Amino acid sequence: MPGNALYTDLSGYYDLMCADIDYRAQSHCVHRLQQLFGNAGTGHLDLACGTGPHVRHFIDAGYRSSGLDINQPMLDRAALRCPEARFSRQDMCGFRVSEPVDLITCFLYSIHYSASIERLEACIASVHGALGVGGVFCFNAVDKNRIDNDSFVSHTARHDDGLFHFSSGWHYRGAGERQSLRLRIERTAAGDTQVWHDEHPMVAVSFAALLELLAPYFEVHVFEHEYDRLIPWDGASGNALFACVKI
Ligand SMILES: C[S@@+](CC[C@H](N)C(=O)[O-])C[C@H]1O[C@@H](n2cnc3c(N)ncnc32)[C@H](O)[C@@H]1O
Repeated sequence: MPGNALYTDLSGYYDLMCADIDYRAQSHCVHRLQQLFGNAGTGHLDLACGTGPHVRHFIDAGYRSSGLDINQPMLDRAALRCPEARFSRQDMCGFRVSEPVDLITCFLYSIHYSASIERLEACIASVHGALGVGGVFCFNAVDKNRIDNDSFVSHTARHDDGLFHFSSGWHYRGAGERQSLRLRIERTAAGDTQVWHDEHPMVAVSFAALLELLAPYFEVHVFEHEYDRLIPWDGASGNALFACVKI
């Protein structure tokens, strides 16, 4: 059942769902990539910024950060977390910046929200246009050919509103350019249990095709999906971190 309650009605529980994510390590890793490949500038834009946890870390590391997201409830939370930052409600597949930035990030596989190959291309072109000379674009992605439909992550957390159980996993039917992120959110309070099922349409792309889309715009470096050390991608794993230098 399609729906995106997580980013609208349930946005107040998004951070609870992500409590296990090491946002500091992710932000620091990308900061290192910017030091290795970038132009030493500090202008930063986070695409699909959600509630702004990465923006917070980049500001604290000395960046002039801004964020964009398509869902206003997420941006409202981001603005509370990062009052110094500028946030705008925009589609990452066709956005504008007031001045070029040095680093553009897109975390937590959010680039897949572009939802089709045509829109993914538009996203890549928008990013290229928004970066200044020597600018870097960093994001993580999953290869459609290596998705395991039986694999999911789950996590339980207590909140003033009840006991929450979140689970999520990719689903790809094995053909075409559409995969989905399936989420199940369960809340139990005062003996009553409510369940929400979200299904988010995402673009399915192989890494070979993704590299082809990026090639006209960027010199691309691919790393294993690890944030505590940089290991060149082995060409086999289905999750990777992309560092793309504007050409
Ligand atoms: C998985 S969350 C990631 C949020 C944040 N980057 C993080 O790491 O916690 C995905 C985010 O993408 C946003 N999003 C979905 N489609 C989008 C689009 N077309 N343009 C911009 N943001 C989008 C959602 O509103 C949501 O906040």
